[in-house]
Amino acid sequence: MFKDEALDSEKVKACVQNAVLAPTSSNLQLWEFYHITDKNVLGEMTSACLGQNAAKYAQQMVVVVVRKDLWRQRAKANLSFLKESFGTLPNKNPTKREKLILNYYQKLIPTVYSDFLGIFGWIKYFLFQIVGLFRPIYRQVRHSDLRVVAHKSAGLAAQNFMVSMAAIGYDTCPMEGSDTLRVKRLLRLGRNAEINMVIGCGLREERGVYGPRFRVPFETVYHRV
Ligand SMILES: Cc1cc2nc3c(=O)[nH]c(=O)nc-3n(C[C@H](O)[C@H](O)[C@H](O)COP(=O)(O)O)c2cc1C
Repeated sequence: MFKDEALDSEKVKACVQNAVLAPTSSNLQLWEFYHITDKNVLGEMTSACLGQNAAKYAQQMVVVVVRKDLWRQRAKANLSFLKESFGTLPNKNPTKREKLILNYYQKLIPTVYSDFLGIFGWIKYFLFQIVGLFRPIYRQVRHSDLRVVAHKSAGLAAQNFMVSMAAIGYDTCPMEGSDTLRVKRLLRLGRNAEINMVIGCGLREERGVYGPRFRVPFETVYHRV
């Protein structure tokens, strides 16, 4: 539960700018962030978030959206950036090391991310399993695997955002509990976009914290090898 006190949208936006500094798998940045400040949209979002308090009392919301479908564009953007920073075009051939890095985006990423109705992903998966009998190999090549990969990185961005908000005294609550189809419709997102997390933002109401923090015993989750 949050107080009925407004947040400075520019400060929240600055925290989203910190979110995009999070590391991402292959630096593909397969994400988008929707910063909701409009009261009407917030109201509709509350119902899409199943009426829960973290949404109902939120002064603003940030929705972290996964855009796995943008991998081609993002790989291309990385390539242009790298070529420019290497100074390869138009007058210099890339060095061996530069070629290796460029190939990562020109060949490896398309091999891993290309798919057709999930079929190509399964074919790659079986081929890679066979190669994997003889040597270590990357195995996250099916559609479902790459969704996990993209959501993992988006989760880190969400955490960056929440930590940045905490640093300026703003509070947040991440929400899994939402009707993602309704959220997508509200934000006019396409079929390929996926909701990673809806984050309610505001200033904490002391009685809004449900109880003392609970964690399972640390020894049960910490393994030193
Ligand atoms: C991915 C994710 C989804 C969550 N979904 C909800 C939610 O829908 N509603 C809610 O009130 N809290 C939600 N939470 C918050 C957790 O319930 C909360 O972090 C947990 O109970 C531990 O509490 P603490 O973070 O205050 O220690 C979510 C947290 C995460 C990371």
